[in-house]
Amino acid sequence: MHRRKFLKNSSLGSAGLLGAATLAGCGGKTGPEAGAAPMLAASPGPVALCTWDFGNATEKAWSVLNAGGSALDAVEAGVKVEEANADNQTVGLGGRPDRDGHVTLDACIMDPAGNCGSVMGLEGFLHPVSVARKVMEETPHVILIGEGAAAFALEAGFEKQELLTEASRREWEEWKKTSDYQPVINIENHDTIGMLCMDEAGDLSGACTTSGLAYKMRGRVGDSPVIGAGLYVDNEVGGATATGLGEEVIRTVGSFLIVELMRQGMSPQEACEEGVRRIMAKNQGRTDFQIGFIALNKQGQTGAFCIHPGFSYRLYNGEGHRNIPSETFLKS
Ligand code: GLY
Repeated sequence: MHRRKFLKNSSLGSAGLLGAATLAGCGGKTGPEAGAAPMLAASPGPVALCTWDFGNATEKAWSVLNAGGSALDAVEAGVKVEEANADNQTVGLGGRPDRDGHVTLDACIMDPAGNCGSVMGLEGFLHPVSVARKVMEETPHVILIGEGAAAFALEAGFEKQELLTEASRREWEEWKKTSDYQPVINIENHDTIGMLCMDEAGDLSGACTTSGLAYKMRGRVGDSPVIGAGLYVDNEVGGATATGLGEEVIRTVGSFLIVELMRQGMSPQEACEEGVRRIMAKNQGRTDFQIGFIALNKQGQTGAFCIHPGFSYRLYNGEGHRNIPSETFLKS
């Protein structure tokens, strides 16, 4: 059993055992001093949170955590719910295509040891996050792209399938009539799911998955599969993940920045606010795009901040399950 989990369980079941176990780790002292030794704090986990109001995804992650599962298994299981949700047109099945009609998926995952895997521009596979996990666990690489990623997915046993749904195809056909084939930036069509979880042992993992900007140029990749931009996790400090216009998140390496700000002492909320402010400072006067960040620190505290109203995040922890409206840079 993981040592922290053991200590946490011990604290629930036997204070005396906890004292002995704590001191065994501090040089094996026993006797009266044992009771006076500082107790190791129990993990504030489990915690699960994700961008936007994806209740089914956080609930799935929570069910994994609640059964004693790892944060890594929880984030994968959680975001897979939205990858398979045909009604969500910004992730996985039913995602809006690029301007040539191809649904191209980007995803990444990070574990508590700092291992990471990513796929970019993956076509024809329902669960890019699971392919990213395989890249992390079964290759010497971090990122696979396009055809190479698809060949790897097939080899790894994933089944190919059509991801362009009739609804998304019809919308794309309509878009083509008036768009002049120009990719558009918009504020609404960015419901990327980024998820952060802490398990009972206090270990952190994260995942991020998207079909990217609707009607993007073929080959365009956003922030979601870029480690440090769309997602970053440091198990000593915390994790952060992003939704919104990926180009802007990449320019500031947003998620890494937020984790580093937390390392320097900021709360998750303060760090998310600073992350958005850095982006706005590089875009003086521009308000035609949305970015939202969420963050979780090692103490189980969370934060979120976005540019425009409308962003929220789903949080599942010991206090319950709720949707939390984000603080915003621009007020409505
Ligand atoms: N954040 C998703 C994207 O820009 O592709």
